[in-house]
Amino acid sequence: MTGDNPVLAAIRSRRVVRAMTDQRLPRQTLEQILDAGRWAPTAGNRHLQRFVASDDSGTLRALRMVSPGMLQRPVAVVAVCVDRALAVDFGFARQAHSLSVDVGTAAATLLLAAHALGVGGGPVTSFSRAAAAAVLGTPQGWTPEFLVCLGYPAPGGPAPMRRGRRLTWRDLTVWAPREGA
Ligand SMILES: Cc1cc2nc3c(=O)[nH]c(=O)nc-3n(C[C@H](O)[C@H](O)[C@H](O)COP(=O)(O)O)c2cc1C
Repeated sequence: MTGDNPVLAAIRSRRVVRAMTDQRLPRQTLEQILDAGRWAPTAGNRHLQRFVASDDSGTLRALRMVSPGMLQRPVAVVAVCVDRALAVDFGFARQAHSLSVDVGTAAATLLLAAHALGVGGGPVTSFSRAAAAAVLGTPQGWTPEFLVCLGYPAPGGPAPMRRGRRLTWRDLTVWAPREGA
């Protein structure tokens, strides 16, 4: 169903990577992934997501210790944060739903960009927000919401979390009733 469309092919072939080699990512590659993240759609075009990036092995080790959901040993991590202080200045409620949606759009874009560059990505939301903020030294007012683990895929590692048969788009979709029907 992707034909020869490279974007659709990338969307379909991206999988969570939970086994990574210890080969470092070139800083330029990490910057390309971060640059892709800024193109994610955001509520009101406010760009309230912020990224804290690290490729420091000591920082990553400490982050892993406060992140039970981090099954991989990444060589870099991008923490997608929300600048809550700026959000309030813009008139958003501190916990506004759209801020979480913005985190999702950024995370999906980062994961897809990494995949496009041959880099494996793994989402992690099972981590201590407070401890991760301390480890990463997140600026005042930023809350880390989603960790994107990065590294080159290694053979083996934990099996994908399978939940029965793969869902089709038809399983996930109903057509809205026609106007006037
Ligand atoms: C909001 C969210 C939170 C997730 N948290 C974790 C996590 O803490 N640890 C983990 O290994 N995977 C996590 N995942 C990855 C999912 O388990 C993964 O996307 C799912 O099993 C499907 O795999 P696939 O993306 O390779 O198709 C998370 C994904 C999302 C969207």
